[in-house]
Parts: sequence; structure tokens; C-alpha cells
Amino acid sequence: DKSHLDQEKQDAARAALRWVQDGMLVGLGTGSTAAHFIRQLGAKVQAGELRVQATATSLASENLARQLGIPLIEPRRGLRFNLTVDGADEVDPHLHLIKGGGGALLREKIIATASDYLLVIADSSKAVAQLGKFPLPLEVVSFALPWVLDAVAALGGNPVVRMSQQDPDKHAQSDQGNLLVDCHFGALNEVEQLARQLKTIPGIVEHGLFLGLARAALVVQHGQVQVLRP
Ligand code: A5P
Repeated sequence: DKSHLDQEKQDAARAALRWVQDGMLVGLGTGSTAAHFIRQLGAKVQAGELRVQATATSLASENLARQLGIPLIEPRRGLRFNLTVDGADEVDPHLHLIKGGGGALLREKIIATASDYLLVIADSSKAVAQLGKFPLPLEVVSFALPWVLDAVAALGGNPVVRMSQQDPDKHAQSDQGNLLVDCHFGALNEVEQLARQLKTIPGIVEHGLFLGLARAALVVQHGQVQVLRP
């Protein structure tokens, strides 16, 4: 149930703290698991036990980090993060991920790619043998929406435009003001090929397949935080 999973998220987040070293530049993920990590990191920073500088993958995570007194840095040329800690919607045994359930996939992929080490933290519900039960999120430029829906449908992805949680009559918007489309492909057999195909469709700014980016995952399995590697 929900509180049980939330405890697992907290446990995974706490385990990730041990990856953080003094002086690191850290990328902060988005979602409820990443929020646990940000709160725990903030506590260490406030206690004077860790000095870090951070960049967040969403406005929500940025606001949380700011409230907690975690020093924030802006994107700049040459900036690399020593470590990024982020959640995921699905993690497979290769540490291929589906991300974007929280709508932050674009910044998440930008920060993950600018990081020397992407560490995933996840509760037991996220580990899967094969990706695809969770619908694959896309960030889409509004003008391109009808053609993106056609193209995704032609690939067999049954696209659904995400609606706003505050106002169910309105489309959800990403932090960049773009739309989010959730694609129901079912079990994904050829993830590399699908990632390439989605990249060729004009108006898809980014997709939620994270392939070859995660270096390790802290996933709760059988009540314990396990370290998974690709
Ligand atoms: C955010 O865009 C997603 O990639 C999140 O990492 C994902 O939705 C996980 O969220 P929870 O930690 O809340 O399950």
C-alpha cells in the first residue's frame, strides 16, 4: 500500500545519501522519492555535515531545495554534476528507465546527461523485468500535437494527452510550457529502436526512455535496499 511504498522511498533516499561526498555538485531529481532525498540532503546541509551545490530537474524540486537552504547553481558552459539522484517510473535489469510520470523528463534527461553518475532511487513497485507497463511520457511542442499523436499511433503507441491535475479540462504543462503525452505501447521489446524513432518525429522535444544513463539503482526488494548495476 501507499504508506508502505513511501517508507521504501524514504529508505532508498537515505541509502543514496552515502553516495554524496563533501563539495560535490549534485543534480536533484523530481517526484516523491527524489523529494525524500532532497529533504534528507537538506538536513545534512543545515547540520553543516555536507557542503554541496545543486541544480534541480524541476521548479518543484528547485523550490524544495531553496526552502531547505541547499545552495543552487544555474546552468553554465562546462558544468558537470558529480552525482545526480533521481527516481524512475520503471527500472529494468539493464537499468534502462521509463521516466516522466512527474512531467519533468526533459530537464531530468538534460541533468542526467550532464552528470558523471546517475543514481536511481526507487521503491519495490518500480523494478520490472521488461519496460512498458507504465505509459511512456513524451514532452511535445503544442503546435505539433496532432501530428505527434498521428505518428505515435502509427508506431502502435496509443497516445493520451495528459490533463492538468488542478483543472481536468486543461492540458497539463511541463515547466517549459510544453504538453505531455503518455504512450501506451505495452511491453517494449526494442527500446533502442523506439528511442531512435521517437527522436525523428518533429515536435517531440524529448521522450521518457533513459537508456544507458543510470550507473546504479538503489531499489527496495524483499524489504531491503539493493544496489543494482547495469
Ligand atoms: C518525474 O518526471 C519522473 O521521472 C519521476 O522520477 C517518477 O515519476 C518517479 O516518481 P515517484 O518518485 O513519485 O514515484
